Amino acid sequence: MSHSKQSWSPDGYSRHARFVSELGAPVVELLAPEAGERILDLGCGDGDLSVKLLQMGVEVVGVDSSPDFIAAACAKGIDARLMDGQDLTFDGEFHAVFSNAALHWMTRPSDVIAGVARALRPGGRFVAEFGGHGNVAAIVTAIRAVARIHGGDEKLAHPWYFPTTDEYAGLLEAAGFAVEEMALIPRPTPLPTGLAGWLETFRQPFFDQYPDDVRARVLTDVEELLRPALCDDAGQWSADYVRLRLRARLT
Ligand code: BEZ
Repeated sequence: MSHSKQSWSPDGYSRHARFVSELGAPVVELLAPEAGERILDLGCGDGDLSVKLLQMGVEVVGVDSSPDFIAAACAKGIDARLMDGQDLTFDGEFHAVFSNAALHWMTRPSDVIAGVARALRPGGRFVAEFGGHGNVAAIVTAIRAVARIHGGDEKLAHPWYFPTTDEYAGLLEAAGFAVEEMALIPRPTPLPTGLAGWLETFRQPFFDQYPDDVRARVLTDVEELLRPALCDDAGQWSADYVRLRLRARLT
């Protein structure tokens, strides 16, 4: 996972965002890994899903652009390497490239896909899930609205890449992939530490632009704008996630 100003704390991530790997079962199922396969986990984070692949008998290599995540993944016994997913350096060695909840942090998708194609053996598969078009649209709109009120930099509201299926299929086909499955899947996602935990984990650079007293007010304003849409009567917050899930094969 990478963004120039985004930093990751494995502890904070565990507390606020463990659901990211816990909800990874459908994309692992789509990968259908076989024992003995060599698989690249692209944007492996702290290695939670890499460990699952390892337990399935896969020879897994993880890459991530966060040194803290790489250290956490290595501590779990993963062959994890510090590498930007937009500049992969592998050459024809993997049966599959797998990615969960990472590709939306990489805003040069053609470079990602070219690196994935290079990393795969002939006929290899690319199986991924990440934020698709419309992902966290309500959250982003609320952050933008509050930035207008408090005079912040609106560009910090949305650093991600959330493509449509047509756009992403076009990029894959241009790089020599045949798309076997692709869908946009709305998946409202309960947030274990509320909206504030999500915002502080994933949009920290936006809030860091304000002095402490204004920061608290900005956070409250974003919450109050979103409460009617994303918080239920029992006080449970959800994020308006839309997943783009795909399997493509190198032709
Ligand atoms: C996602 O998994 O869709 C996501 C996570 C953090 C920020 C933006 C999107």
